Amino acid sequence: MKKLKSAIIGCGNIYKVHADALQELENAELKYVVDIREKRARNAAEGYNCDYIIEYEELLDKKIDVVHICTPHFLHSPMAVKFLEAGVNVLVEKPLALNYKEGNKIIETLSKSQTKLGVCFQNRFNNNNQQAKNILESGRLGKIKGIKGFVTWHRDQEYYLKDDWKGYYKTEGGGVLINQAIHTLDLMQWFVGPVKAIKGNVDTRVLNEIIEVEDTAEATLYFENGAVGIFYATNTFSQNSPVEIVIDCGKGSLRLFDDQLLITDNKESKSIINTTSGGKYKSYWGNSHYKLIKTFYQDIIAGYYTETVNATEGLKTLELIQYINQSAINQKKCYLSNN
Ligand SMILES: NC(=O)c1ccc[n+]([C@@H]2O[C@H](COP(=O)([O-])OP(=O)(O)OC[C@H]3O[C@@H](n4cnc5c(N)ncnc54)[C@H](O)[C@@H]3O)[C@@H](O)[C@H]2O)c1
Repeated sequence: MKKLKSAIIGCGNIYKVHADALQELENAELKYVVDIREKRARNAAEGYNCDYIIEYEELLDKKIDVVHICTPHFLHSPMAVKFLEAGVNVLVEKPLALNYKEGNKIIETLSKSQTKLGVCFQNRFNNNNQQAKNILESGRLGKIKGIKGFVTWHRDQEYYLKDDWKGYYKTEGGGVLINQAIHTLDLMQWFVGPVKAIKGNVDTRVLNEIIEVEDTAEATLYFENGAVGIFYATNTFSQNSPVEIVIDCGKGSLRLFDDQLLITDNKESKSIINTTSGGKYKSYWGNSHYKLIKTFYQDIIAGYYTETVNATEGLKTLELIQYINQSAINQKKCYLSNN
């Protein structure tokens, strides 16, 4: 069994999910962890029995096959470009980049390289979302007429003060849209298809003393197939509620709530599928990182993409976010660039 040599850059909140997955995979071997905070890098190296590095550029000389980028958003594109140019495969945490323009730099670099890039939209791999996608593709519920996606979470002063990069456009790239609700935007367009136009609004309603980015956003998504999407996201609720997505089709509807799927057809029969897959990480991160990482490694070895979320897919949400912001500034419906 060929083992790919891996490294993880950024040993903060999310890296353990990656490191644990790599320990389980037969075709991966975690060789290095990297963090500019030496203590974090050292602790991670001790925990996962590998070497540590402080300056990530040193990794470029280490002959690794895959790098996992788990750093703040502003570092995603510059780091990804450097490693892709050096012939290293890249798995980047969401978002693909700080913004659409930087995401495009990655796409351009990839077009000149033989390497692969995956983006961590792991919720696509959740059992309930996979089942919903299969039902929609089978056409058994008819044509999609509408979709709604609601994210009502809680992020307070403590959350924003804990990490120096959150709450600023320069380092986070935005607020609730690019950090929390990006998974829901990704799922909405994955389920329904390409978006033609957007009318949206963004605002900072509660956290305005603390952050410069938006804590609340809403948008109407006009899909190419005629469906209309309603999207609402906020970090200002008093608690973290489960994300809710409802898809209305001609012959029934699907309701995704937490890790459940409720299927309702027009004869009023209902079936609830509880797809809880268990796991040790925060439930709203989902437990599907392992599946995504496993698929990415299989794809690298096979030499082609299967279900992995690639850079083109990762760019779609950055485009949606850009147009929600543009529509908010212009106060009018905006048509996406290819329309
Ligand atoms: N997929 C998900 O559901 C999910 C969940 C949480 C976080 N994330 C994403 O993971 C990424 C990291 O988030 P986090 O919450 O772990 O952040 P964090 O701030 O906890 O960790 C980031 C780490 O990167 C390190 N770092 C910063 N600059 C560096 C550099 N130049 N070289 C090496 N290390 C550097 C920091 O010291 C820190 O330890 C973000 O993109 C975030 O959006 C994704």
